[in-house]
Amino acid sequence: MVPGGAGVSRAAPPAVLRAAAALPPGPALVFDVGLVKRRMIAARAQARPQGVELLLALKAVPLAVVAELAARHLDGLDLAGPEEQALAAELPPTALSLTWPGDVEIGRVRALATRHHVTVVVETAAQLAAAAATPGVLVAARLADGPGSRFGVMPDALPALVAAGGGRVRALHVHGGALATAPAVLAERARRACDAAAAADLPLEQLDLGGSLHGFALEHATAGRATLAAALAAARAAVPAAVRLVFEPGRLWTEDAGFAVGRVLAAREVDGQPVRVLDLSRLCHLRWSTPRLVAPPPRAADERVAVRFWGATCCEDDVIADAWVPAEHLAALEVGARVLFAGVSGYAAGWNRAFAGVPAARVETVA
Ligand SMILES: Cc1ncc(COP(=O)(O)O)c(C=O)c1O
Repeated sequence: MVPGGAGVSRAAPPAVLRAAAALPPGPALVFDVGLVKRRMIAARAQARPQGVELLLALKAVPLAVVAELAARHLDGLDLAGPEEQALAAELPPTALSLTWPGDVEIGRVRALATRHHVTVVVETAAQLAAAAATPGVLVAARLADGPGSRFGVMPDALPALVAAGGGRVRALHVHGGALATAPAVLAERARRACDAAAAADLPLEQLDLGGSLHGFALEHATAGRATLAAALAAARAAVPAAVRLVFEPGRLWTEDAGFAVGRVLAAREVDGQPVRVLDLSRLCHLRWSTPRLVAPPPRAADERVAVRFWGATCCEDDVIADAWVPAEHLAALEVGARVLFAGVSGYAAGWNRAFAGVPAARVETVA
């Protein structure tokens, strides 16, 4: 896909266009899981030789088909609450890391541990007691990413948590903080975690440095951008070789793979600007996304028009996108026309919901 400027994306993969054309009326999200699979294979090919393991943070694209892909093409999955844990029940055996600020549901964890290699991440005494009483699981403490973090324990509280675990805490988990765009940031995060483990007498077997790897380039690094391979190498160098080093990115897997389809319900001019009201909604269907209209971008000689696309909910914040299109393209945006947006995050599939007569989007995948 070639990104255009000014809110416009020039093209979508043929399989996405075909799926969009075949959809019944109503909002839809379409994910190119063929691209997700290629990203998984490419990233793992970079991580494996370095001794780094990669999981899928399932909340970032909570679809059974993607969970399957992760079980086959990555080292496992990071799961949050009970719904995600249920999605993993039937997967081929793999590594599962459970990080959920809610209580550990011990029955479910036991069931998962009969099939998978389970790590339970804890940060409270109650979670620790439940996890430590579960045979066969690795218990990890969640370390706060910094003083402002609302998750995890600060390094000075780690010794007490480790001591309360009576030898069961043998792993650390850190996720959060600003998006890393330099390998040195990951290396520093890794070093801080190893130092905290040493100071707490935690016999570190596994360190999971969380997600947020989408600031790194998976394939071709444009000027100033570091590659994922360089970032993983920097982190690996900061962690003793005997410690399993794991990451659990989410967004990394669905970059460029998500699209949304809607129809024009109303075509109007507001303050002299063409606006379109769609059956899609940013608030219901497009959270954590940066939608870009798939349309021909204007050439230098074209008359250009800025069109605003609104969602159909009553919320004034429900603006989907602004896009500059050639004036002649307005004819393709009349009432009833189908419109396609790129830049949809996999997280949108998790947030997807109905509101005030606007239905939840159907979710389709193409290979
Ligand atoms: C515990 C945990 N791990 C991993 C992720 C994935 O983060 P990202 O999509 O930034 O890679 C999240 C997302 O919030 C998370 O909460």
